[in-house]
Amino acid sequence: MTSLTPTRTAWLRVGCVLAVGQRLEDVVEPIESIPVRDLFSRTMQILDHLSKEASPQQRAALRRAMTTLRTSLSMAERAEAELPALDVVSQLHLAAGIVEPTSSDKAALKVWGADLKARRRAAGLSRSVLAERAGISDSTLRNVETGRRAPTRTTVMHLQSVPELRIDPSPIGSQITSRRQRSQDLSPNCWLTPEYDALKLHGELTMLLNGRGGHLEQTYLYLDPSSAAAWYAIAEQEVYTIARMLMPMDRVAEQISERAGAVGLDVIGLGCGDGKDEVRLTQCLLERHSSQNLRLYLLDISQPLCCAAYRHAAEVLADRPTVSVCAIQGNFHNLQRYTPLLHSQERSHRRRIVCIFGNTFANLQNEIMFVRNSLLGFAPGDFLLLNVPSTMAPADKQDEVMRKDPRLAGRSPTETMAPALSIQDRMYTELLRRYIAGIKSTEIKSTLDYAACPVPGSYAADVRATVKMQSGEAKHFSIAYIKRYDRTLLDEAMLKEGWSPVAHWRYAEEYHPRLLLLYQRVRSVTDET
Ligand SMILES: C[S@@+](CC[C@H](N)C(=O)[O-])C[C@H]1O[C@@H](n2cnc3c(N)ncnc32)[C@H](O)[C@@H]1O
Repeated sequence: MTSLTPTRTAWLRVGCVLAVGQRLEDVVEPIESIPVRDLFSRTMQILDHLSKEASPQQRAALRRAMTTLRTSLSMAERAEAELPALDVVSQLHLAAGIVEPTSSDKAALKVWGADLKARRRAAGLSRSVLAERAGISDSTLRNVETGRRAPTRTTVMHLQSVPELRIDPSPIGSQITSRRQRSQDLSPNCWLTPEYDALKLHGELTMLLNGRGGHLEQTYLYLDPSSAAAWYAIAEQEVYTIARMLMPMDRVAEQISERAGAVGLDVIGLGCGDGKDEVRLTQCLLERHSSQNLRLYLLDISQPLCCAAYRHAAEVLADRPTVSVCAIQGNFHNLQRYTPLLHSQERSHRRRIVCIFGNTFANLQNEIMFVRNSLLGFAPGDFLLLNVPSTMAPADKQDEVMRKDPRLAGRSPTETMAPALSIQDRMYTELLRRYIAGIKSTEIKSTLDYAACPVPGSYAADVRATVKMQSGEAKHFSIAYIKRYDRTLLDEAMLKEGWSPVAHWRYAEEYHPRLLLLYQRVRSVTDET
């Protein structure tokens, strides 16, 4: 094992042997204080060793590489002497990662900026490469590095997501090859939103279910590990997987790529559940989009599902270094408060794709209010991808709706769907049983409802549970409110809210016909004021 000599500093590490035609700076990774002479000498030994077994042609090339090293040593040592010395304390400081400046006075900002610059240089990143990797603009990075401006919390968070800025101080050894991977693993992979409080949510759910009854908003349906596991199992069912695979995600990626141009993209999955659709969209974008710089944000209120989604994404996208994945524990009703996800001046060179898969949008209490208020942080050019059930008959033809809509007719559209629907009802029943003390029995029934459907042409299946208590009392809950949409009328409503329809697809006819709808923002809130 090579030892550290903190007095002479080079911030260079030979990551591999020089190959023919490669430049020295392509193969040395800046990492720790080993004198450049030692590094060169070790490299020469390895090259010499390799040349003994090489073919005549390779040997000649290896000899040329050794000559290059020998002749450039004095130049490298001069450069080494000019670099600032980094002692062990500095190394540990760099290893600890970036935090916000302690004060916003000029002197403190200058020190903070210089520190960032040192980290960037130690990581071998140019300013423009770091700006691109962090998803901030060049000018923002310049301003904070020079101490001209204080970094916002969002800028700090974006910088924190670049793993190379956190320098691993462990000595060089047999683990060299795995070091990059380890530093990726150590980079922050989850944000806890400021108001997220799992215990408070649990308390609210308990109180609601132990009251007289009422509507159980979807925020509470998947919170505890048992409900999350039940949902995960539903999403694993063959019928659910097939319906997901029928979603023409490559066509969505094609549309987005054509319209967005060569910019970085932020895929933001709201209520991502197991995250599989968001990951598939990201994969399709990687195939089609000219910029490979992608960020995948997986937001869910359910801690177990958020964690499952992160694991799935990290595993599937592990070999895609241009994609960063971040799980977010938060409430999508508060999305407008989560500034790191929203459009801002410093990230105006990127486009955001907000995705809401599954029935999540259709379960909202008021979709128009949600689009208007929770999505107000997105700007013209950003995308919204909705996935909703289609109407089975025109909303005003009540008899036809009752006959044709499987949920309302009390049957499943195909035999294969029956188990999925019954697991879903079982998930609701078990949730009630876990939380309501003194429960005797539960009956679940869906009724047709129009009164809470703000989108013209839509109707809802109000899934209601009647709970009989051992005391003889009965409670009535609305446990899911699932809307169905007429595509044309939903598009009109979305356009009024500033989201222009771009493309639509109808699929899964043999199950319950579903719509995949792509919108692009044409008007922002500020345009109206
Ligand atoms: C019907 S599941 C859909 C999951 C996934 N999108 C899919 O298509 O399989 C609804 C998801 O939204 C999440 N969710 C519900 N309310 C939420 C809220 N207020 N904020 C964030 N996530 C929420 C749930 O935890 C759950 O993962």
